[in-house]
Amino acid sequence: MPEKKVVLRNCRVIDPRQIDSYLARDGFQALKKARDEMTPEQVIAEVKASGLRGRGGAGFPCGLKWELARKSQEAEKYIIANADEGEMGTFKDRYILENDPFSLIEALAIAGYAVGAEKGYIYLRAEYHNLLDLLTNAIKQAKQKGRLDFDIELREGAGAYVCGEETALMDSIEGKRGEIRYRPPYPPTKGLWQRPTVINNVETLMNIPPIILNGAGWFSKMGTAESKGTKVFSVSGDVNKPGVYELVMGSSLRELVAALAQAERVRMVQVGGAGGRILPYAMIDTSLAYESVLGAGAVIVLDESRDAIDVVYKSLEFMAEESCGKCAPCREGTEVMMEIIGRFWRGEGEARDLKILPELAEVMRLASLCGLGQTTPTPVIDSLQYFSGDYQNKIGAKGGARV
Ligand SMILES: Cc1cc2nc3c(=O)[nH]c(=O)nc-3n(C[C@H](O)[C@H](O)[C@H](O)COP(=O)(O)O)c2cc1C
Repeated sequence: MPEKKVVLRNCRVIDPRQIDSYLARDGFQALKKARDEMTPEQVIAEVKASGLRGRGGAGFPCGLKWELARKSQEAEKYIIANADEGEMGTFKDRYILENDPFSLIEALAIAGYAVGAEKGYIYLRAEYHNLLDLLTNAIKQAKQKGRLDFDIELREGAGAYVCGEETALMDSIEGKRGEIRYRPPYPPTKGLWQRPTVINNVETLMNIPPIILNGAGWFSKMGTAESKGTKVFSVSGDVNKPGVYELVMGSSLRELVAALAQAERVRMVQVGGAGGRILPYAMIDTSLAYESVLGAGAVIVLDESRDAIDVVYKSLEFMAEESCGKCAPCREGTEVMMEIIGRFWRGEGEARDLKILPELAEVMRLASLCGLGQTTPTPVIDSLQYFSGDYQNKIGAKGGARV
C-alpha cells in the first residue's frame, strides 16, 4: 500500500499532553542536531535538497522561502505556522495539531534558527479554539523541560477563509481586517510589520524534524520528480471510511478513495477544496502530486446520486461569501458566477450562459489578486468539460436552444 507515516508519525502514538512521550520518540533531537551540528545555512541547504514544497496549496519550495528570509539584512524576522485551515473539506491540520503539537513547536524553533527569527506565531483557525489549551500546554512543557528557548505566540484566527492567505493572515495578526496585500513585495522580504517573514503550512513544518534527523536523501527518495515526500489528505463525502490519510506523493486517487476510504459508485471527486478540480470517475487513476492535482489535500468524493451543478453551486456560495472584496474580479466575479450557476441549479439555465462562463472564468483567473478569485472558476470549468450533460438538463423553458 502507498500509505506511509512521516507527518503523522506520532499521531495516536504519543500522548499530546505529555512531553515525555514525545521525548521518548526522538522529540527535540532534530532541534538539538540543527543547533549543535549545523549552521543555519546548512539547515536551509538540507531543506532545499530534500525537495520539500509547501503543503498549504501553492507548493512553493520551502528551503528557498527560508533562504530568501535568511538573506534579508533586517534584524527582526518572524516565522508563522499557518493553522487557519479554512479550505472546504480540510481537517488534516486539525488532526495533526490534536495529536502531535510538539513536532510543530520543534519545527518552528528549527525554522527560527535557520532563518534567524526571534519569534514565531501559530495562527490558529477560530473554530479550533478548543486546541488553544493543548498548544499552550505543549509550549509550556517544552520550556519547562529546557527544550525550547524560542518565543512562540498563539493567535486565534478571525473566522474568515481569506485570513488563511498569507498576506491577509499577516494583516489579521497586525490587528487589521484580513485583506489581500499587493505583491511584490513578498513576505520573505517584507511580511509581518514589514519585516521578513516565513509563513508555512502546519503540514509543511511537520516534515522538518524528520528531514533534519534522517537527511534530505531519505526524504527525496519518496515521491515523484517534482513532488517529494508524502501528502496528508482529508477525505470526506460519499465514502465508507472518511478520515485523514498520509500517502507517498504520486499515489493514485483510486488508491486513496477506493482502496483506503472505500468509496463505491464514484461519479466525481473534488480535489483541492472549493477552488479545486472536479475529476470524473474516468480520471480516478490520476496521480496525486504537484504535477497533476493536489491542492491542500481536501478530497470530497461524490457518488452517482450527485449532480455536478449542486457541487459547483455549493463551492461558489462558499467563495462568494468568503471573498475579501478588495479586488473587483473576485468580489463581483464570484457573485456573478454564483448567480449564473444558481439559474442552472433552479433549472432555469440559459444556453448563452455556457459561453459566458468560460469568458468570466478567464478574467477572474487573470485579474484576481489572490488564489481565492483565481481558483473560483476551476470547478466551473471542469464541470463544463466533464459534466456538460448536467448543464444541458438544467436549461429552462426560456433558456434558449440547447448547445
Ligand atoms: C484564500 C486562500 C486561503 C488560504 N488558506 C490557507 C490555510 O488555511 N492554510 C495554509 O497553510 N495555507 C493557506 N493558503 C495558502 C497561503 O497563502 C500560503 O501559500 C501558505 O500558507 C504557505 O505555506 P506553505 O508554503 O508551507 O504551503 C491560502 C491561500 C488562499 C489564496
